[in-house]
Amino acid sequence: MAFIEQEEINRIRNSANIVDIISSYVPLTQRGKNYFGVCPFHEDHSPSMSVSEEKQIYKCFSCGATGNVFTFVENFLNLTFAEAVSLIASKVGISLSMEIKSKKETKFKEEYEVMDFALKFYQNNLNTENGTKAIDYLKKRGLLEETIKDFSIGLAFDQNMLSNVLLKKGYSEKLLESVGLVSRKDDQVYDLFQNRILFPIHNLDGQVVGFTARCYLTEVTPKYINTKETVIFKKGNILFNYHRAKDAIRLFKEVIVVEGNMDAIRLYSIGIKNVVALMGTSLTKEQIEIFKKLRCKVILMLDNDDAGETATLSVGNSFEENHIPFEVVRLSGEKDPDSYVVKNGKEKMESAIQNPLSFVDFKLNYFKKNKNLNDAADLAEYIKAVLDGLKNTNDAILKEVTLQKLSKDYNISYAVLKEQLGITENEEKKKEVPIKQKVVKQSSYDKICSKILYYMMNDAKYIRLYKAKLGMFPTKEHRQIANEIVYYLEKNKSITLPDFISYAENSNLKEKIMAIIENEKELDLEEEGMLELLDIMKKRIKKEEINKLKAEIKEEYDINKKMALVEKMTELKKENEME
Ligand code: CTP
Ligand code: MN
Repeated sequence: MAFIEQEEINRIRNSANIVDIISSYVPLTQRGKNYFGVCPFHEDHSPSMSVSEEKQIYKCFSCGATGNVFTFVENFLNLTFAEAVSLIASKVGISLSMEIKSKKETKFKEEYEVMDFALKFYQNNLNTENGTKAIDYLKKRGLLEETIKDFSIGLAFDQNMLSNVLLKKGYSEKLLESVGLVSRKDDQVYDLFQNRILFPIHNLDGQVVGFTARCYLTEVTPKYINTKETVIFKKGNILFNYHRAKDAIRLFKEVIVVEGNMDAIRLYSIGIKNVVALMGTSLTKEQIEIFKKLRCKVILMLDNDDAGETATLSVGNSFEENHIPFEVVRLSGEKDPDSYVVKNGKEKMESAIQNPLSFVDFKLNYFKKNKNLNDAADLAEYIKAVLDGLKNTNDAILKEVTLQKLSKDYNISYAVLKEQLGITENEEKKKEVPIKQKVVKQSSYDKICSKILYYMMNDAKYIRLYKAKLGMFPTKEHRQIANEIVYYLEKNKSITLPDFISYAENSNLKEKIMAIIENEKELDLEEEGMLELLDIMKKRIKKEEINKLKAEIKEEYDINKKMALVEKMTELKKENEME
């Protein structure tokens, strides 16, 4: 991003009252010192977000969202940090000393530029004489001219036309290769996409980073050729159509997830705009994070075939594990949402979306597949699968209703089902316990570090205490964060939590820093507490040194050296006891 001086950022933040800014988006009511409102970052109806005028930060007790005034507008309006600073600056009447450009734009400037050029080139091809067959194909599929334009659909001919033009313009072969527009064979580069209709793929910010290219003259395999992974195209980080859909998603607090690009294009073009496509049937860790960040409900509407059904189960399981609220739509009759709309029209599609199934209901059907429920063994297997699928549900009513239904439909005693579910749940809990204990044990050191670091972010006096009493953390991860804080103080002469949050926005350690703030936001800051934490840390470090010395003593055969080591260790032990 454009480099805005920290001083300028702090000045803007200081001129903006977080209560005024947030209340212009979310109604707040004052209770005591703080203000409360319904948190916009997760599905909620009660006022679980508190905004502190004194501390100039907000925090949600329910979903954990926290930050300063910039973080709020950044997440609420889906802006980059620089855009958020610029927006707040304009709200408080400060003019920024520079124009805002995002980091991503400047980092791979040439790469984005060449992709934009390719996009325009392909789009233009579609409108030439040789593009009529492709236009016919698109029209036959029922795409309007407006949709072709909205989605910047283009066409690649059967020669190396793109690379010829781009090389003539002075772009290097290496660059074209690095963004995946060409491939190399026998020391020659050639256009990767030939004789195909091109659909650009944008990253979350709306920059063109890749293409998916469909055959159209005849159906060949593969049906689609896609840009391979490149420096700017990370398929796992992308949801097709996200940048067009995000406003509608925020507005409706709901996102429809489909498999194919064509499904997304179809829904969007008939006015169902809050739709994104996975571009296949798998869901990556990064995509899960995108959905988490949206904090809205997901409608999972995958293809109507076996693959789509299996994917509904696995994607659904991932959503469930990650606590992303979702429901399922299974269309019938047609292959996918695209052909469903073509055949049945917009209203039928809307009504399908408005009548989703719970995941449990989906599974009630799904597990029936290939089973003869008149057969005792099959039925038992089926019931077990359903109960197993219920154990992750927190919804007590849904559990109850499902058990009742199973009991009625298959004439099985309700008590037996209930008991069996209890056993399954208990087994699950038993499995969890040791892991949990381990985590707590391992993290007690992390926890102490995290608290010390949080203290430091809040006040220069705690940084001075850290420097005087501890000097540095023994672990790299914590040391790096501490160094950032110390560096911030040296540069800016003073530190407050909301100012440090602005700074952290542009740090490589952003995620780690924000996680600490989220975890520790309830910590009461008192000097005594900090001293205690530093003391525990020091003791730990010494203890570790002692253990190391012990090991060295064991290994040392030179008697004089051994004596010296023992002396050093005794000294350390004494110190540790005295403190
Ligand atoms: N896909 C792919 N390569 C293939 C087939 C599919 O990358 N050979 C990806 C594409 O992103 C596609 C998605 O998987 O959009 C879903 O596949 P499919 O349902 O077959 O594609 P549709 O979008 O239905 O394509 P069309 O309607 O044009 O046949
Ligand atoms: Mn499809």
